[in-house]
Amino acid sequence: MTALRPLCHRDTLADGQARGFDLEGEGQDQFFLVGHGGALHAWRNACPHVDGAPMAWRRDAYLSPDGRQVMCHAHGARFEPDTGRCVQGPCLGQHLQPVPLHIDAQGQVWRAVDWAARTDDTTTTTRQTERTSP
Ligand code: FES
Repeated sequence: MTALRPLCHRDTLADGQARGFDLEGEGQDQFFLVGHGGALHAWRNACPHVDGAPMAWRRDAYLSPDGRQVMCHAHGARFEPDTGRCVQGPCLGQHLQPVPLHIDAQGQVWRAVDWAARTDDTTTTTRQTERTSP
């Protein structure tokens, strides 16, 4: 059984909004959530252009000015918020790394505690599921 960690309520992020999470207390977000198309998507805060490069220039600044694309502010790469595919910039065609989320029936958003240790996870970034543990 996978242990889950609470992040926020689904309703706290509307389409065109993003929020970063530093659950490890490293002083830098490990991942961020994006509201897009009525769903939440979670991506690792690591640009594929320069492996491991943080993407936001200030707290929660993960989106383009119009809020329609994820943006890395280092060199301007832009990504589709639902697929993570780079559609403009120096890493064109490469992808952000997804972070698996669980959203329970009450709208609480959870992340697997051991997510950071799994590098081969291809789970979709959003799905409805029952909470398996607090
Ligand atoms: S490090 Fe993200 S675009 Fe260069």
